[in-house]
Order: sequence, then structure tokens, then C-alpha cells
Amino acid sequence: MKQPGIFISFEGIDGAGKSSHIEALAAAFRGQGRVVTLTREPGGTPLAEKLRTLVLNDAMDPLTEALLVFAARRDHLQQVIEPALARGEVVVCDRFTDATFAYQGGGRGFDLAVLSNLELWVQAVPTLEGDFVRNPDLTLWFDLAPAVAAERLASARVPDRFESQPAEFFRRVADGYAQRAAHAPSRFARIDAALERDAVWQQISQVLVQRGWLGAAA
Ligand code: TYD
Repeated sequence: MKQPGIFISFEGIDGAGKSSHIEALAAAFRGQGRVVTLTREPGGTPLAEKLRTLVLNDAMDPLTEALLVFAARRDHLQQVIEPALARGEVVVCDRFTDATFAYQGGGRGFDLAVLSNLELWVQAVPTLEGDFVRNPDLTLWFDLAPAVAAERLASARVPDRFESQPAEFFRRVADGYAQRAAHAPSRFARIDAALERDAVWQQISQVLVQRGWLGAAA
């Protein structure tokens, strides 16, 4: 019998250390025989990846930025996420709409009510019982003090438009995530990203085991 799809997103400020754990989670699911679609936002389709390049590199006003990330999301949902969930796959996504609330809403100070409207329009999924708004089943929120994240980023690659923002921007992004988490406490799992890598993975695996999505040995 086909298993229901599972939609998991990873979130956190730049430098919080999501990347290696995203790969590890996908591997853990595959090890249990699940088909995994590993994807990211902005991006995940040819069109959305083009929009990503614009958003990460070109100067634009905050509304344009918000519209482009939601346009990318619409294409990504229609082309990749919804079909994968319908096939009963596990979708693991590096960032989703919480990032828009944190970066465009918190970081840029863009109107949260407009973002909420866009979320309703862009993520509406029609069913026989009416529309629902697609959001992840679980969001692993890598929480890390902005100062620590900035130190980690300093030794990394050439910064994009977001990574080159001042510390104050990331403090607002972090607040944006905290607010969003407070509104959806059952969807968000806070991961203490200050711990060393193994301890971070232990937290993730514990959350997944608690939900019954991974076996205890993962
Ligand atoms: P990220 O996902 O961290 O990828 P990489 O590890 O390659 O840098 O970077 C994407 C950037 O885009 C990140 O700085 C956050 C930003 N972003 C937004 O501003 N709004 C959004 O809705 C999303 C999904 C990302």
C-alpha cells in the first residue's frame, strides 16, 4: 500500500549549518526504503532556479523580491512538491515559506499581511472538500545566535545578497523565525544549532522517531 507523502523543510539563518543534515536525513529515509525528493527554495525547478539567481544577485525593491520568491514557490509546488507528495514520497526542502516571513518579513521589514495573502494564494491546493494551504508537515528550525552564524559564514564562500547583510539584518531574520515558530508550535521543531554536528543530528533523529517517521536506529 502506498504510504502518505511527508513534507519536511529545513530553516534557519545563513550559517546555521543545515546542509549536511539535509543530506543525512534524505539518506536515513532512503535507508528505510522511502523515495526522497531533495529540493530547495528559492529553486527546485528550471524556472524557479532562474528566479533564484535573480533574487540572490540583483538589487530590487522588497515587493519585487517577495513576488519573485513566491513565483518560484508556485512553480516548485506545481512541478515538484505536489506531484512527489501525491506519489507518496518524502519531500525534504531546504527552506520554504517560513524563510520568506523571516527574510522578507523580518529582515527587510516587508508587510507580513501581504506575505500572508501571498501564502494563501500561492500555496492553495484544491481538493473535493475545498482548498487547503500547503505547508510542511514538519519544519526543522536550526536556531543559532546571529553572532555565531556570522562567524561561521565569515570563513565560507563569496556572500550573496543576503549573506552580505549586516548583523542587525540577521537579528531581525532570527526574530522572524521565532515569531513564525510561535504561531505554529506543532509544525516547528527547534534544533539547537550551536551544538556539535553529532548532537544536532541526534536532535533531528529524535524528532523524526517521535513522529513515527524514522526507526529508532536512524
Ligand atoms: P540558502 O538556502 O541558505 O542556500 P545556500 O546555502 O546556497 O546559500 O540561501 C538562500 C537564500 O535565500 C538565503 O539567504 C535566504 C534567502 N531566502 C529568502 O530571502 N526568502 C525566501 O523565501 C527563501 C526561500 C530564501
